[in-house]
Amino acid sequence: MAYLLGIDIGTSGTKVLCIDEKGTVQASASAEYPLLTPRPLWAEQNAQDWWDATCSCVRRVLQSVPAEEISGIGLSGQMHGLVMLDEDHEVIRPAILWCDQRTQAQCDYITQTVGQSTLVAETANPVLTGFTAPKIIWVRDNEPQNYERARMHLLPKDFIRFKLTGEFATEVSDASGTSLLNVPQRKWSDKVLSALQIPLEHLPRVYESVEVSGVISAAGAAATGLKEGTPVVGGGGDQAAGAIGNGIVQSGIISVTTGTSGVVFAFADTPTVDPDLRMHTFCHAVPNKWHVMGVMLSAGGSLRWFRDTLGRPEMRVAELMQIDPYELIAREAATAAAGSEGLMFLPYLTGERTPHPDPHARGAFVGLTVRHSKAHMARAVMEGVSFGLRDSLEILKSMNVSIGNVRASGGGARSEVWRQIQADVFDFPLSTINVDEGPALGVALLAGVGAGIYSSVEEACSSVIKVVSSTSVNKENAATYENYYNIYRALYPTLKEQFAALSALDV
Ligand code: XUL
Repeated sequence: MAYLLGIDIGTSGTKVLCIDEKGTVQASASAEYPLLTPRPLWAEQNAQDWWDATCSCVRRVLQSVPAEEISGIGLSGQMHGLVMLDEDHEVIRPAILWCDQRTQAQCDYITQTVGQSTLVAETANPVLTGFTAPKIIWVRDNEPQNYERARMHLLPKDFIRFKLTGEFATEVSDASGTSLLNVPQRKWSDKVLSALQIPLEHLPRVYESVEVSGVISAAGAAATGLKEGTPVVGGGGDQAAGAIGNGIVQSGIISVTTGTSGVVFAFADTPTVDPDLRMHTFCHAVPNKWHVMGVMLSAGGSLRWFRDTLGRPEMRVAELMQIDPYELIAREAATAAAGSEGLMFLPYLTGERTPHPDPHARGAFVGLTVRHSKAHMARAVMEGVSFGLRDSLEILKSMNVSIGNVRASGGGARSEVWRQIQADVFDFPLSTINVDEGPALGVALLAGVGAGIYSSVEEACSSVIKVVSSTSVNKENAATYENYYNIYRALYPTLKEQFAALSALDV
């Protein structure tokens, strides 16, 4: 039996998953690490924490699966993060993450220096504060001594690749989120690099996601227990990898993933760009295919905030009942009517990306009255996140992207209550699939293609992924939500200036 390993370097932790070629999980392990927020708007992590977590998780998985029987390894991870290495290959400073919002000035500089039309023609996207290039420029502007020492700029999973294989490599899906890749041509953009004076030799080599990018080195084997020589494929950024794990490998199937962030992901045969530049157009982990994606920064993150602040009593009761506190919060939310009796929630707790690329956007409850209880507030949070996801679906419709089937995934999709709210807000039935292992599964499948176990990504997905349930639309609630959605859409433009003013007071 051939085994495949997927390693996902997430924001809250690392997950290592081992499957057999039928997709059956043989073993998995995960380990958490802290998120550092040294200043408002900043988000950093220590790359060494990722490596320690990877080594400990791989070792735990290898207690159940012999290293010699692993045919291939795939890497996935949080996208857009910047790890800088010096000439001795040592990490220079903490990694700056996807959810860090410090780089607006650098985004303005990049847009001005490269020119918006060249930037969009080359990278298929505007530059946004979360992306990697503005982070490199931020270090150059603010920590020149660190920038001078830098010899290699890596994405999070590609740092782990370097530790495992000794190779400096990345792949097209993750590289798409740097603002340095020519997304239509799937190679680094000479034009952008030369305008920004970032040397090409400071970037890793770009592969397709299924290509073998290196093999486990002697040092990688000694640190993890993996077998020297095991192939490591390109893998994918967590969204493209998660989409492979959801079977999003043909036109018409869309996924809606409610994790910390909320992502609406559509497959594309060509690099289709939203004329208003609200969606991301990135290379997919399927060779020579692309995807269009909308990213909300706080989806599940909004409900986590609710749990950790207003939901303390629920957490205590859930512990006594030995159930998940989110389950208890969802039961409470289900006691309120659709629309939460006129209470609305804006989910911009960490700024926003799609459809409002605004680091200063903030969360809000709007419409509170004395009638409202915590149950209404919980429901309003779930509804507000669902309206935010609908914003991306509406943009896809306006781009004529076909929406034949919507698959719900991520922690939020485990809640029947939240799935029903999403189906009703979208006015579209949702399906769920038999596996819920996310990006780690996706890259294990890509490793199977690279190792020759499957002939294509499509074959890998069809051997493993099956639709198992469907949530149909409650038409009465859908009609109610239509009215609320129209109000929701008007709230951000109304409050935008006040959000910016509040942020200015807050620094
Ligand atoms: C995608 C994005 C997030 C991160 C962290 O563009 O920023 O999904 O990859 O998960």
